[in-house]
Amino acid sequence: MKVFISGNIAESGVKLLEENNIAVTWWKENRQITVKELIGACQDVDAFISVGPNKINADFLNACKHLKVIALHAVGFDNVDIKEAKSLNIPVGNTPGVLSGATADTAFLLMLAVSRKAFYLHKKIINGQWQNYEPTPELGIELNGKTLGIFGMGKIGMEMAKKCIGAYGMQVVYHNRNKNEEAENEIDAKYVSFDELLKQSDVLSVHTTLTPETKDKFNIEVFKKMKPESIFINTARGGIHNEQDLIFALQQKIIWGAGLDVTNPEPMNKDNSLLNMESVAVLPHIGSATQKTRSAMANLVAKNIIAGLKGEKLPHQIW
Ligand code: GLV
Ligand code: GLV
Repeated sequence: MKVFISGNIAESGVKLLEENNIAVTWWKENRQITVKELIGACQDVDAFISVGPNKINADFLNACKHLKVIALHAVGFDNVDIKEAKSLNIPVGNTPGVLSGATADTAFLLMLAVSRKAFYLHKKIINGQWQNYEPTPELGIELNGKTLGIFGMGKIGMEMAKKCIGAYGMQVVYHNRNKNEEAENEIDAKYVSFDELLKQSDVLSVHTTLTPETKDKFNIEVFKKMKPESIFINTARGGIHNEQDLIFALQQKIIWGAGLDVTNPEPMNKDNSLLNMESVAVLPHIGSATQKTRSAMANLVAKNIIAGLKGEKLPHQIW
């Protein structure tokens, strides 16, 4: 049996595959593989591990009907046409749970960095602009006792909320399609309407999936309902905010700051004006990028592939 991997995964996962007599072939170039190249690479393999935002659309699936299993090295699956995979009977797996802590850490890091303008000030030092002790021009804001709003209270949102409660005694409000009883009982999070979430949040952190309903959800009309001193954090998917509207909202001081681990498009262009703003921090989609988490993800991916090639139900099957 053979599997094609469209990027890098941790050694532990590769080992697991090889121990199960599955031969591994890799995409080795330092750029995202195109759909055409992907279709070519998957012709003589039995399974596919998707690393990064590969478009697993109807064209790809129909050209690769022979695949016995597809395993995503990710929790999000907005890049996959699940309906088509199902109709072609190709099981698709993902890696939920294991990356919640690392992704919440990234959201927390961005929140703190934005609140003290850390990335901007770091850049000033690099540019030789640290001339004297000058506390006045670039003052930050403190997070103690503030209100955290979570849009999409699932596993990652819960972890972010716990960190903010522990570190700053923040109050937590959230908005979801359905109430999250565990969040209400365990961390006293309060369910509010979407408009109330915008109105109450000092920090608004996005932890939902990208769907037709959440696409461009954070647009100028929405930013206008947020507090002028609020911080917007997105570690979920860049498509959930409208980037031009976000730039406008920050320039016009409609909101105070923004921290992004996901952008639209990715990679972000180096000339993007967000990168020159004081209370903005941007990271290149590193939510799950710790040694421990990537190793756990590689193991889950390998287990999904091993089960799929045996014709068994995947341990973490999306459909
Ligand atoms: C990364 O973005 C993931 O979905 O795991
Ligand atoms: C800052 O370093 C202070 O002493 O206030």
